[in-house]
Amino acid sequence: MKDEAAVTGAVGRGLAHDSARLHVTGAARYVDDVPMPAGCLSLAFGLSEVARGRILAMDLEAVRAAPGVVAVMVAADLPGANDVSPSAHDEPLLAEGEVFYAGQPLFLVAAESHLAARAAVRRALVKIEAMEPILTVEQALAAESRFEDGPRVYSKGDVEAALEEAAHVIEGRVEIGGQEHFYLEGQAALALPQEDGGVVVQSSTQHPTEIQHKVAEALGLAMHDVRVEVRRMGGGFGGKESQGNALAVACAVIAARTGRPAKMRYDRDDDMIVTGKRHDIRVEYRAGFDARGRILGVDFTHYMRCGWAQDLSLPVADRAMLHADNAYLLPATRITSHRLKTHTQSATAFRGFGGPQGMAGIERVMDHAAHVLGVDPAELRQRNYYAESAGGPAPRTPRSISGQMKRDPRDVEIAVSGDAASRGAVGAVPSERGGGVPSGGENTTPYGMKVKDFELGAMTERLLETSDYAARRAEIARWNAANRVLKRGIAFSPVKFGISFTLTHLNQAGALVHVYQDGTIAMNHGGTEMGQGLFQKVAQVAAARFGVEPEVVRITATDTGKVPNTSATAASSGSDLNGMAVKAACDTIRERMAECLAGLFKARPSEVVFADGLVRVGAEEMSFASAAKLVYENRVSLSATGFYKTPEIRWDRIKGQGRPFFYFAHGCAVSEVVIDTLTGENRILRADILHDCGASLNPALDIGQIEGGFVQGAGWLTTEELVWDGEGRLRTHAPATYKIPCASDAPDVFNVALWDGENREETIYRSKAVGEPPFMLGISVWLALSDAVAACGPGYPALDAPATAERVLAAVRRVQA
Ligand code: MTE
Ligand code: MOS
Repeated sequence: MKDEAAVTGAVGRGLAHDSARLHVTGAARYVDDVPMPAGCLSLAFGLSEVARGRILAMDLEAVRAAPGVVAVMVAADLPGANDVSPSAHDEPLLAEGEVFYAGQPLFLVAAESHLAARAAVRRALVKIEAMEPILTVEQALAAESRFEDGPRVYSKGDVEAALEEAAHVIEGRVEIGGQEHFYLEGQAALALPQEDGGVVVQSSTQHPTEIQHKVAEALGLAMHDVRVEVRRMGGGFGGKESQGNALAVACAVIAARTGRPAKMRYDRDDDMIVTGKRHDIRVEYRAGFDARGRILGVDFTHYMRCGWAQDLSLPVADRAMLHADNAYLLPATRITSHRLKTHTQSATAFRGFGGPQGMAGIERVMDHAAHVLGVDPAELRQRNYYAESAGGPAPRTPRSISGQMKRDPRDVEIAVSGDAASRGAVGAVPSERGGGVPSGGENTTPYGMKVKDFELGAMTERLLETSDYAARRAEIARWNAANRVLKRGIAFSPVKFGISFTLTHLNQAGALVHVYQDGTIAMNHGGTEMGQGLFQKVAQVAAARFGVEPEVVRITATDTGKVPNTSATAASSGSDLNGMAVKAACDTIRERMAECLAGLFKARPSEVVFADGLVRVGAEEMSFASAAKLVYENRVSLSATGFYKTPEIRWDRIKGQGRPFFYFAHGCAVSEVVIDTLTGENRILRADILHDCGASLNPALDIGQIEGGFVQGAGWLTTEELVWDGEGRLRTHAPATYKIPCASDAPDVFNVALWDGENREETIYRSKAVGEPPFMLGISVWLALSDAVAACGPGYPALDAPATAERVLAAVRRVQA
């Protein structure tokens, strides 16, 4: 049985998303598109309008009497646990006595239609005795309102001594806002009661097992009584790791109570008001540099507003700390992280899971230091890089892959060409610029992990060259000198992102693969599809293992009845984990087939080759379908499970020491912007990206992830602004007031290329995770705005985020003063 033949074929091809046609024609089914089962009820929550208070009375008589209403429930009516928390059991489905944020569900209405349920909710007479909410960082600190006893601190070396001996010390503070997920499909769930008291749930969730678990607890059932199915989400972005629990539990509870199917979806405003968002952060910093611009020490303090319930805030805040170094070797570091409890939505996972917040802190430090030291900011970054790591697997046949998104999206072109230069420098230690390691020093992160796979030295040199950074920078300086009103800016920023769940036990996955007697394959695994293309990539892996075309592999919905005990599809690890699990399942079947066929044709199993849709056994050759039929007739099982767990990782989150990540994914970007100094309005003119996906499983999907991630990251730091009023009510809860980037906000010139190396670690076909890392490339847009503002006067812009037109204008005034 040979591997090589199967390795090529379906893997590495830039195939379209398996549902692309269904997406664009509107035929793709989301939870709300599943035909309503007979008798299905629609649900709505009654929400608190007060951020903090005691419930004095809830008069729901008029709600019960409203047209179409079938059931109304408050906390006391729930049959089991009143808890939808993914972590600390501090998140009731329905408020009990007290309310903790404006938007908290108080009661649940089931009616004959969605509109009837929503209309009925408004008839409630709720009396809440309002108390002073804790909303800001200052208020939370003053009240010692926090999760965990005190701040968490990770440190390395003696920061005070480092700052003492530094030639230059900079100090500052940056405020970075949160972010609404704005998945196009809102939260939704549908529960179908079963004949035996069990329930089947369809949910728009990244975490089917968590839904199964919470529904079982809420109904007092065992996990085997609950089956959860997810065909796809219309985007999740982390917002469907835990925030779908409430809807699924609500549907299950009503289904159990009434014996009727129950469906719930939030309208956009409710979705924004009820659910958690990205954590905003304040980063305070003190950093010391030597005369050459090498960082000696940095002291960070993170303040994160986590909202009212713990949710995933601890691991999110941890990951922010774990990315406070980004790509830079920090000889001495201290990171102090405050996880503040506030009377706002419970902040949750969002692409990057705290990583972007931590990374933005050190990128701010580099930007600030470059301004003070008068060094080119890209150059300063290179001087502080981790050392390029030698070794690892030999580079495979070099090629470069690039995608150009033109204004017309139909023009997406993927070119794959033999280009030796693209891979040339990898593995070598770049001489002058890269490699921040002082001689004899350790190439170690602030949390004690050795960096063994750093790619950014060579990647940076290549991107600065292909984007023509130096010449454009000089040209922009000339242009700015000649233009008074408009100013342009350009900035480079790198990304080094750790891949693995920091909660070690989550790094596992299962799969179930069937080969039918007609040679077709059905594939199931624990991962969920949210638009990222996971299903297509994993189907390519399955096809490659059997040497068949990807169309032979049927992609099926994620189902807790087929693969149990799954982790959330998160931490960008979907294809790493599920790809490996599916590979294991396929290989088990393939070995059985090889053994059976070898016996029949008097050959050795090692002589059985699966390739090109054929199976060859010595001189015999047959179609894969014939082989499957033959093996079936010889009574050999063509169905198998597969399992995978990530090797080598270990992590102590209290000490802040270990190897939390299996490997790092890298990327870098050069962005150019223009600002109007009279209004603060701005545009991204051009972005050039070089991103490390290892040996890409599917370059078309990877480029899509990079483009989308970059634009979403730029949106976070520029136009997407969450505003709460003094009473803790979210005032930006619809697209009229909350501005996500649209297609026309993508850069006019958008060059994305893949750094087509191989993962030095043994991941699935040596690919790398790509879901989250490119998000942080959007930081380059924020830095480019800072650069443009810096052209307006001598001061440092100290631009907070989101850098809205108002903030850009204020910064222009500041630097001029
Ligand atoms: N891409 C699309 N189109 N939609 C999404 O919701 N979520 C992102 C990323 N890319 C998302 C996406 C997030 S937060 C993660 S963790 C990864 O996809 C999850 O999928 P993966 O592990 O298969 O990359
Ligand atoms: Mo992604 S924030 O890990 O779902």
